[in-house]
Amino acid sequence: MPSAPVTALPRLVRTQAELRAALAVWRHEGHRIGLVPTMGALHEGHLSLIRRAGEEADRVAVSIFVNPLQFGPKEDLSRYPRDLEGDLAKCGLAGADLVFQPEPAEIYPEGFQTHVEVERLSQGLCGASRPGHFRGVATVVTKLLCLFGAEVAVFGQKDFQQLRVIERLAQDLSIPTRIVGAPIVREPDGLAMSSRNAYLSSDERRRALSLSQGIAAARTLFQGGETRPDPLRTAVLDRLASSGVRPDYVELRDPATLEPLAAAGPDARLLVAAFVGTTRLLDNASLGEGRP
Ligand code: PAF
Repeated sequence: MPSAPVTALPRLVRTQAELRAALAVWRHEGHRIGLVPTMGALHEGHLSLIRRAGEEADRVAVSIFVNPLQFGPKEDLSRYPRDLEGDLAKCGLAGADLVFQPEPAEIYPEGFQTHVEVERLSQGLCGASRPGHFRGVATVVTKLLCLFGAEVAVFGQKDFQQLRVIERLAQDLSIPTRIVGAPIVREPDGLAMSSRNAYLSSDERRRALSLSQGIAAARTLFQGGETRPDPLRTAVLDRLASSGVRPDYVELRDPATLEPLAAAGPDARLLVAAFVGTTRLLDNASLGEGRP
């Protein structure tokens, strides 16, 4: 009987000192390093980032750190899904060589008082409903980019505003790591993959489809010649309303600056955040691209 393929688990390191030592060996051997920062609870979307990092680099490291700084006081920090054992196995299958899983005190030791703020790009959209969120993201990502000194770091486009914030901070702070944005990975029915999908009941899971369906409806309108933001946004809002999903925002934005647009072109980004029950989900797409 053929035996099942054996996948090596990535090496697990928990301290900055261990990490620096492991990275020094890779560098000495001349390897290009790829980094995939995550908060764990890995799904196929994360695995696509790990595979992408493997295409861009010789050695792939994944960080798993549920970053307290990016959660507001009433958000889901304590109940955020955690599954280290499952994550390590998935990282191995996707080709990661190393996982860095620090304790909060390793990242924010006593006396920590330096934060990174990307000013304009962090305002509006998720920044408006989650004050301080992008300051927390920018701070931890800056630390991770400095710690790893990777050639490339891969982030998902599902968190589109986050991606723009990270690109900006890398550029503004002269961090040489190349930032790559990888496409959203979707369930077969169109739902964008997210660790927070684990919170959904089966009824909520069904209603959550209204985000991608709303984007698809707006895209159909756009293909029919509609370029005014309001009717395009209304197509999404109507779809959310008919599923009992509460919008946080539905916005049509310039894909580079995230500024509002007076009229949509094919690159215009339609960005949606909405509450399905108590779970806040995100989705986005370019109006000109294929199905969301
Ligand atoms: O997208 C995430 O999982 C997080 O915001 C990140 C980039 C790992 C920073 O904590």
